[in-house]
This record gives sequence, structure tokens and C-alpha cells, in this order.
Amino acid sequence: MITLHSEISTIGGWSTIYRIKGNPTRCAKVLAPHRAYRNGFPDPAMIARKKYGIKDMLKYELDNHRKILAKVPQKMRNNFVTIHGIKNTSSGDRALVMDLVTDDTGKIAKNLDANTRPLNPGFFLTLERIRREVFLRHSLDHFGIACRNILVRTPKSPVIIDFQNTRIRYRGQFWLRIPYFVRQKVTRKFQRVYNDLGVPDFTKVKSLQKIPNRD
Ligand SMILES: Nc1ncnc2c1ncn2[C@@H]1O[C@H](COP(=O)(O)OP(=O)(O)O)[C@@H](O)[C@H]1O
Ligand SMILES: [Mg+2]
Repeated sequence: MITLHSEISTIGGWSTIYRIKGNPTRCAKVLAPHRAYRNGFPDPAMIARKKYGIKDMLKYELDNHRKILAKVPQKMRNNFVTIHGIKNTSSGDRALVMDLVTDDTGKIAKNLDANTRPLNPGFFLTLERIRREVFLRHSLDHFGIACRNILVRTPKSPVIIDFQNTRIRYRGQFWLRIPYFVRQKVTRKFQRVYNDLGVPDFTKVKSLQKIPNRD
């Protein structure tokens, strides 16, 4: 059992992220009805069930995280948030407990939408390694790859969060099960991130050695 402390973020569509009382190194994701849908703010668990066929969103995210992390080489593990499991909260909710990502100034790491610090080319080198050596190599989908789901731990080190989105959301779109299309979709998501940040399209760089990795 955990007790939720202050809110960290309510930007997510279906959840609120909280600090955990007595545990400054972890945080908790609780489903919350933020998003307007057909004239109301429905329970996200209900929407997940009805719209996407997902019985348990938090368990679904946990499983998806495990599935992806199983393919992440050791040297890139710290570029993915560590998720510890699901716990009950003292207010009667369930929460996904994960490491709180902090930056090199000790503050809670900002996502790429909120970040204002200049990024080092090494940041993009790591993102491209993740795209090529995890997602493309294994034809895996994260599909939530977007600025709001990438945190800036340091100007050289991204951390990927939010493993809620995946192919079950697109179960009507059978082609997204075909590895070639999975890879294309993943690449488009990364291109969108680069475009949103106003940096070159690193997916087009043939050799990663061309991306400088200096301080
Ligand atoms: N482990 C974490 N450490 C620090 N900030 C986080 C963490 N997880 C989420 N956040 C913040 O909360 C926001 C929403 O979290 P996210 O997991 O993406 O929720 P949703 O699934 O609702 O989009 C993120 O954009 C990020 O700013
Ligand atoms: Mg998110």
C-alpha cells in the first residue's frame, strides 16, 4: 500500500502522476478522468475496456513495458523508465509505481514539450540507437513516442516513458501487425519528434557515427 503525495502532472489524457509519501525516488500513475469524451469525463478504465478492448490499463502498460524492456540492451536500460509494479493506494485506487526521473539539477525531469535547455547531439544519437536497435530490430511498437513521452534527464540523455499505447488500440488496423508497417509507423513517430524540435531528420542519417557525441 502506498499513500499519494503531491501531483506531478495531469497533462496525460487518462492519468495523473503523483509523488509517493515517504518515497522520494518513485512516483505513481493513477488513472483519472481528465479527457472529455462524448459530453463527459468518463472513467478511463471503462473507455479502455469498451473502445480498445483493454481490461486493465495499468496491467497493460506494465506488460507492454516488460515486453519492450526485454529487448533493450543493457547499455540503453537507463534510457527507459523503470516500472516496479502495481500497488493499491490508501485512497482506494490502483497505481503503477515507477522511478521518478530527475534531471542533473535534481529537479523532476521535464518532457520534451516543456524542456527549454539546449540538447546535445548525444541526445539524438541515443534516440536513434533506441529506434534502430530496439524498435526496428525487433519490429516493436511503442507508438506513444512523442515529445511529451520523452524526458530530459540530461541534455545528452533521454528517458522514454508511457507504455500505454500499443497495437491493441489499433486492432481494427490489421496492417499494424505486419513488421514492415510497425517499423514505418515507429519511424514516423520519431520523425515527428525531430520535426517538432526543429532538428534534422536523424532517421535519414545512414551511419550513427555521423551524429557527433560531444559535450
Ligand atoms: N517517471 C516519471 N518521472 C518524472 N515525470 C514523469 C514520470 N512519468 C510521467 N511523468 C510526467 O507526467 C507526464 C504524463 O505521464 P504519462 O506516463 O505520459 O501519462 P499518460 O499516459 O497519461 O500520458 C509526462 O509527460 C511527464 O512530464
Ligand atoms: Mg503520456
